[in-house]
Amino acid sequence: MCGIFGLITKKQDVPVARLIREGLQRLEYRGYDSAGVALVNDGNIELHKEKGKIVDINKNGALDNLKGNFGVGHTRWATHGPPTAANSHPHMDCKGEIAVVHNGIIENFQELRRKLTERGHEFKSETDTEVIPHLIEERIAEGDDLKTAVMNAVKVLEGAFGIVVCHAHTPDYMVVARRESPLTIGITPGETTYCGSDIPAFLPLTRNAYILDDDEIAILKPGEVDIFTLDGERVERDYITVQWSIDAAEKGGYDYFMHKELHEVPQKVREQVRMPQENIDAFARTIMEAEHVYITAAGTAFYACLAGKFQVTRFGKIYIQAILCSEFRDALEDAIPENSVVIAVSQSGETADTVEAVRYAREKFNAKVCSVVNVVGSSLTRYSDHVIITTAGPEIAVASQKAYNTQVTALTMVALRIAELKGYLDKEEVQKYKQAALKVADVCDEIIENEDHIKILAEKYAKKPNFYFLARGVSLAAACEGALKLKEISYNHAEAYAAGESKHGPIALVEDGFPIVFIAPPDSTYDRLIGNVMEMKARGGIILSVVSKDDEKIKELSDDIIPIPHDDDPYIIRLSAVMYVFPLQILAYFAAVHNGFDPDKPRNLAKSVTVK
Ligand code: F6R
Repeated sequence: MCGIFGLITKKQDVPVARLIREGLQRLEYRGYDSAGVALVNDGNIELHKEKGKIVDINKNGALDNLKGNFGVGHTRWATHGPPTAANSHPHMDCKGEIAVVHNGIIENFQELRRKLTERGHEFKSETDTEVIPHLIEERIAEGDDLKTAVMNAVKVLEGAFGIVVCHAHTPDYMVVARRESPLTIGITPGETTYCGSDIPAFLPLTRNAYILDDDEIAILKPGEVDIFTLDGERVERDYITVQWSIDAAEKGGYDYFMHKELHEVPQKVREQVRMPQENIDAFARTIMEAEHVYITAAGTAFYACLAGKFQVTRFGKIYIQAILCSEFRDALEDAIPENSVVIAVSQSGETADTVEAVRYAREKFNAKVCSVVNVVGSSLTRYSDHVIITTAGPEIAVASQKAYNTQVTALTMVALRIAELKGYLDKEEVQKYKQAALKVADVCDEIIENEDHIKILAEKYAKKPNFYFLARGVSLAAACEGALKLKEISYNHAEAYAAGESKHGPIALVEDGFPIVFIAPPDSTYDRLIGNVMEMKARGGIILSVVSKDDEKIKELSDDIIPIPHDDDPYIIRLSAVMYVFPLQILAYFAAVHNGFDPDKPRNLAKSVTVK
């Protein structure tokens, strides 16, 4: 997730560079580790890019003083390659005549890069993006005009992209294209055209916006837009007039960032499933070669560990011990055996206890560290032998949701790879599981489309002071996460237990009207869970169950259900972790709003906990 802003205008004496820099600053919530701007100036490209926040980069006017008539800028959230000047956008072709900014992930960039290198192209960055200007360069050398060159170049890209392309020798237009990553166009007809990853980027300048669909490209001229399919067919579309305030626009029209980010979960899960195999490989092999494997994190990230560890054991037949990072040192004092691996999971990569746990294991016991992190270049990545970057992108809401779901997905992909390397699953079966993981994202889409049902339930239950969340097996992670989310943003007291454990104490509190949330996918735990539902019901508990849409037995015993619309397919059922937790995160969100709390900023909590 990055921010893109560009403009092309007919107006004379417009401070093009300053307007682009200001547009980028309005998008900094999408990424803020490095930034750059490229302007087309009289047959040349003027470029400045650096690591850091825009305000620091522009301290001496480095961005504002660029000369040119039109151009584009980018504020980066690193995915491929750490935040450095070389990895910042815009990226250029060999001759420095084509500038490209990109938001998304090019899945086949390694293969494209290898072929381009063989054909003599020189790369200056570690990014996936840099293949794009080189592909366009080749097409232009073969005689394509810029529009046709971009069209042909993006046809060979696999993955997600929103791109903007400027060419030093094409003085009258720039080109944008998108697939699965956002890109919007703003227009003051007859005068100026803007492009931005989100509408807020150009909202102070115009309220007229075109929304591009997947696999469309557009030619941006001053105050004029032509949209085409990738096959060159013209698309007739009118602009819309946006009524949002800037604040609402930053939130994509949602009332809160958390709601916007919950709506992004399906796409983020899809991107995680499609992450490059190479990233998983080294990670999986390191775990396989270890004699002892630990997994550690805090809060929601720890619950992602619980789900992930379960999948590694299920598919890869490797037992992993999960230890809270704040307990890691005390639990393992002088007892980490040789040849151990610690898997650390963190959104920020800065959680002090997580960083301390891995440093302790690494420095004192020579343990290897594999981490699953959302922020490239964060502290945790510096102490890791192998890193998987989650595809959540910046998460503004304090409570994790995109991060959790991508962490679980990433660990599931690792589990599948281990199973494949060990010969427990063949290639075909792994492929079936990957398809099922993509279907999980589709199921999450359906869940969010029907979120009104969850809202009604949230409003019904929001005032209840106490809750139990009960589940078995992998769903215990969902129970823990569901309870934590409700507690931290809606301030209801909620405890999660392994359902079998509930009769060893917790049941004493259950009386008429006590709400109990059961997470009950149709897996091997289902029949045993029915007994726990009956025990709670017999004591007057109100039962809210998360069940398959085809469920009959638990549905009959429940007061309310959240149906999960998945097929009766063993592959998808074994990947239940994400789709059964997602509605609980939505439930907590609506309960918080109903109770009058700001779900983006829960009291006493911070996004990054850098104290022990
Ligand atoms: C809860 C939440 C926290 C974090 C925890 C770890 O919604 O977000 O529990 O999961 O503070 O943070 P990271 O993942 O940054 O290490």
